[in-house]
Amino acid sequence: MKNARRIIASRLSCRAFNGEPIVAKHRGLLTTSIVKPLAGPLGTTVRVVEVENSPTLNADLEERCSYGSVHGAPSLLVPVVPRERHAMEDVGAIVERLLLELEGSGIGSCWFVGNFAGGAIEREVAPESNSVLPAVIPIGYRATRRTASDSAIRFSVGSRKRKRWSELYFEIEFWDDDQRPNTPPTPLSPAEAPDIEEMLEAVRLAPSTSNNQPWRIYRYTTDSGPDRLHLCLKRNPGMDKVIRDVDVQKIDAGVAMAHFQAVAEEIGMSGAWVYDKPAYLPHGVEYVASWSE
Ligand SMILES: Cc1cc2nc3c(=O)[nH]c(=O)nc-3n(C[C@H](O)[C@H](O)[C@H](O)COP(=O)(O)O)c2cc1C
Repeated sequence: MKNARRIIASRLSCRAFNGEPIVAKHRGLLTTSIVKPLAGPLGTTVRVVEVENSPTLNADLEERCSYGSVHGAPSLLVPVVPRERHAMEDVGAIVERLLLELEGSGIGSCWFVGNFAGGAIEREVAPESNSVLPAVIPIGYRATRRTASDSAIRFSVGSRKRKRWSELYFEIEFWDDDQRPNTPPTPLSPAEAPDIEEMLEAVRLAPSTSNNQPWRIYRYTTDSGPDRLHLCLKRNPGMDKVIRDVDVQKIDAGVAMAHFQAVAEEIGMSGAWVYDKPAYLPHGVEYVASWSE
């Protein structure tokens, strides 16, 4: 993706917009993304609907989301997600890619997670039966000043902070396959990972629910074969049960996948996320996907 590193380094969630509708020259991307359903890296197809915001829809968003408030957003993006095994990771990856591209055109956004079934937003979108509405994303042009409530949310979840590399990325050496680790996970530094440094930095800077940054990436090395990268979740206890039908930390994992992929494309590294669970997994983490070059 063009300018991925610059966009990722400078983006911030936007909860205060100037109220102006999105102009025609910026609508191309929205139009193409919204007319056809989009396929995620792990195989789920998601339809993203754009609806014009209104006081009723904005109130429904604020009532059903897990935290936060929105001011002056002209449009809402509402992904309609089928109940499939990898749907949460896929909606994270599909929508974050779209949001990065919108950010590149000067359009701000903020994820709001919740279960949006049963209210005005659901009535507007008319989702297929057996689907979930796990998130609503207001989009538009940033207001010149942040609102007091936006500043308060940013402060309460510590939005400016990110975990260090040593808390997120690890290396594990194996004898000859991925069954018997030779070493326990040891932190991976940027100097030890020059070929993937920029992608890992893009994941580190990614947004996440309550800024929990639950992703962990393990590089598995052997003497004989190529290195493998596995994305896992280190869950905050109970977070998978907070919202009915919605696994917010799997959405976070999909967001991380989108950041990695966008930078890989920008620097000309081919590859894709696949579900190919290794035989051995470190203690206390849940497998999500592996990067396949
Ligand atoms: C999947 C996801 C869900 C989020 N849900 C909410 C939400 O419900 N309400 C909210 O105000 N912000 C939400 N956020 C925004 C995060 O609070 C924000 O990304 C984080 O604090 C880091 O700040 P930044 O995005 O400005 O870097 C969400 C972000 C992600 C990626």
